[in-house]
Amino acid sequence: MLPKLGDPGPADLSDVPGAPDRGTELCRIGDIPENGARVFTYGPQEDPFEFFIQRIGDAVYAYRNLCPHIALPMDWRPGVFMDPQRTFFLCANHGAVFRPEDGYCFAGPCRGRYLTAIAIEIRDGAVCVG
Ligand code: FES
Repeated sequence: MLPKLGDPGPADLSDVPGAPDRGTELCRIGDIPENGARVFTYGPQEDPFEFFIQRIGDAVYAYRNLCPHIALPMDWRPGVFMDPQRTFFLCANHGAVFRPEDGYCFAGPCRGRYLTAIAIEIRDGAVCVG
């Protein structure tokens, strides 16, 4: 069962219809622009499950693209999730601010809640379903 909105997760993609199996490569770290993100969408068109993988230096973070405030997608433009300084995730709707390392919201209307992390693994430079 997927975590409730606002819970840290991680979400297990085996609960998402059409998502790849555990261990499947999603992309290479090098395929993600430095300080950029890639967005992945699975599930039925009428109720898609979307998540993003953000690269910050050599680190990658994966979260559901759904703000715990009122369940809207977070990106400013498709695939852009961070503030102008590229320090925190910043929701485009009402300005909630989240720590990349754990998805915790420390400012804004959903303060104290979390983005839902997605279970991933890094293997030989690849980002895989965890
Ligand atoms: S939907 Fe993200 S802050 Fe309101």
